[in-house]
Amino acid sequence: MDFLLSEEHQMLQRMVRDFATNQIEPHAREIDASHQYPADIIAQLSELGLMGMMVPEEYGGADLGALAYAIAMEEVSKACASTGVIMSVNNSLVCAPIYSHGTEEQKEAYLPDLATGGKLGCFSLSEPGSGSDAAGMTTVALRDGDDFVINGTKNWITNGREADLAVLIALSAPQLKTRGISAFIVDTKSEGLTVGKSEEKLGICGSSTTTYTYEDVRVPAENILGEENHGFKVAMKALDGGRIGIAAQALGIGRAAFEKAVKYSTERHAFGGPISNFQALQFMVADMATKLDAARMLVWRAAWMKDQHQRCTKESAMAKVFASEAANYVVDRALQMHGGFGFSKEFDAERHYRDQRITEIYEGTSEIQRLVIGRETLKQFASL
Ligand code: CAA
Repeated sequence: MDFLLSEEHQMLQRMVRDFATNQIEPHAREIDASHQYPADIIAQLSELGLMGMMVPEEYGGADLGALAYAIAMEEVSKACASTGVIMSVNNSLVCAPIYSHGTEEQKEAYLPDLATGGKLGCFSLSEPGSGSDAAGMTTVALRDGDDFVINGTKNWITNGREADLAVLIALSAPQLKTRGISAFIVDTKSEGLTVGKSEEKLGICGSSTTTYTYEDVRVPAENILGEENHGFKVAMKALDGGRIGIAAQALGIGRAAFEKAVKYSTERHAFGGPISNFQALQFMVADMATKLDAARMLVWRAAWMKDQHQRCTKESAMAKVFASEAANYVVDRALQMHGGFGFSKEFDAERHYRDQRITEIYEGTSEIQRLVIGRETLKQFASL
């Protein structure tokens, strides 16, 4: 048992931390205020290998693994949560399923561009009528000769405005429910695919979130990802990895809020001394620090398991629900420690407060994480 990161992981952490502090964080407020996609920063992340971190080198990736990815996600998201989610979706929900389930031709065709910034990906699963109940989707992909014809509407698509390709999950044999769902790689410029307006959101404002409407979109059968009618599992496995990324994002947002609040508490004076002298604040600092450390251990454990090729459905759900709720506590207390200034746009506390909230919702709500943890735990007991 060793709680120290390896020399390689420490080097990566230092490299990403330096880059995030010097090249991302100075722009984070502007990215949030202008709702602008940080194209230059994403290009630099691609150059550093951070957009395809788990893709092997033979397909243009950095081949650094899930733990390295979690470490990098924490640092990038600490600097800018919008940048964090753009990076997370491309790595976990696009590159990872294409690498795990794609044919050799698909890997060669898509991964090098996705990993090096030539293309950006998005994940097209949720629908206006089915979010948590992913299998309740109504979008169909019905075979017609050598093509599948897609009809339906998908929403909450991170990177939807900028993405070049989507990993789409749709019903290919509707009567078979979860066993009649397939995954596809879809060119977002396909005829019949309409990108809706970007959602106006509470936080992560620099990332786009859109709707895709598919009207008779023809996708060649060779673009099916994994086996026909096995797409539900492609999506669920992608989300097992994605949830580690979002947990690390929550951790990064929480750490940003925490470090700034602690610094503020040593500088702000009241009743004759810094407010950090008061036990009321020290107790908050203690709880914030403890929750963040506990969250990091769960995130790193899930990532480590993924690197060992172990199934981590339960552990990634534990990491996500714990880290996102720990971050909720931390951003709330951090804002409180700033007093009135916490409520003002002059300080970053309010941005972290807004950015954190989605981490309890996307890639599976906290309620879905608890459902997954409960089911997996009961299954383990049943098999004893
Ligand atoms: N790995 C492998 N297989 C899995 C799996 C996993 N993690 N989870 C389920 N499966 C398999 C099951 O074993 C089962 O297989 P069989 O048919 O062989 O028995 C099959 O999939 C169906 O599973 P369930 O019966 O458990 O399915 P369910 O309908 O009860 O739902 C759920 C499961 C966990 C609730 C799922 O619907 C879920 O995760 N919902 C949340 C969806 C979600 O996270 N959405 C976020 C979308 S992405 C996003 O946020 C936008 C963005 O751009 C960031």
